[in-house]
Amino acid sequence: MILIKTKKEIDYIRESCKIVAETLNLLKSFIKSGITTKELDFIAEEYILSRNGKPAFRGYKQGNSPAYPATLCVSVNDEVVHGIPSKRELVEGDIVSIDVGVKKDGYFGDGAWTFPVGKISEENARLLEMTERSLYVGISQAIAGNKIHDISYAIQTFIESNGYSIVRELHGHGVGKKLHEDPAVPNFGTKGTGAKLKNGMTIAIEPMVNLGKKEVFTAFDGWSVVAKDGKPSAHFEHTILINDDKPEILTSK
Ligand code: MF3
Ligand code: CO
Repeated sequence: MILIKTKKEIDYIRESCKIVAETLNLLKSFIKSGITTKELDFIAEEYILSRNGKPAFRGYKQGNSPAYPATLCVSVNDEVVHGIPSKRELVEGDIVSIDVGVKKDGYFGDGAWTFPVGKISEENARLLEMTERSLYVGISQAIAGNKIHDISYAIQTFIESNGYSIVRELHGHGVGKKLHEDPAVPNFGTKGTGAKLKNGMTIAIEPMVNLGKKEVFTAFDGWSVVAKDGKPSAHFEHTILINDDKPEILTSK
């Protein structure tokens, strides 16, 4: 069931999403060669707690995987999503996706951006640009009266016509009292199908785009999703509010 949020609920979601965006902006200034992904995780956790929020991913359970052990998902290069922070040091030329979830006053916010570490290749720079653009192409379809898969179709056609691949195994989702609610928001699909979007729905749209082939696997840690061909992957995510006209991006920079 897709929930329609009240004004009050939307204010709570807006606040959690604001903390998500602030955290991503803060992390941006720390992303450079030599910092470990665990150090980024520590900075994020301290910040979220200082804003009276709670990290939403820590302790999260999914399938047979162990409870998620960190505040952030930090996914470097061929890691698509759900990379667990570690002693790994970022190096110049890496691309690093940072995914942040916050819970405050019972409501969630969810967002992810992929950052360059220092100077990156042309190829990687274009991957980041196109993945981010695909998110906005999807968001532009997120208006009351459209269908969920209008978003999916728009993202897929934009990405594939530019020669990249859409990861199929993971998708966006409703956001509210739970981190993952209905509806599923896939990044591929048929125009004009799926549930109808209505005023007051809050959803996370999150294209995951591979430079090479679309296939992925889950690493031994039970979480990290990695591109099978070892080529780079990017991920951008915003939580948005559906309106009659322009969608409101709740996790905007
Ligand atoms: N933004 C991601 C998602 O919606 C992050 C989930 S990490 C998890 O799937 F640990 F919470 F699963
Ligand atoms: Co999400």
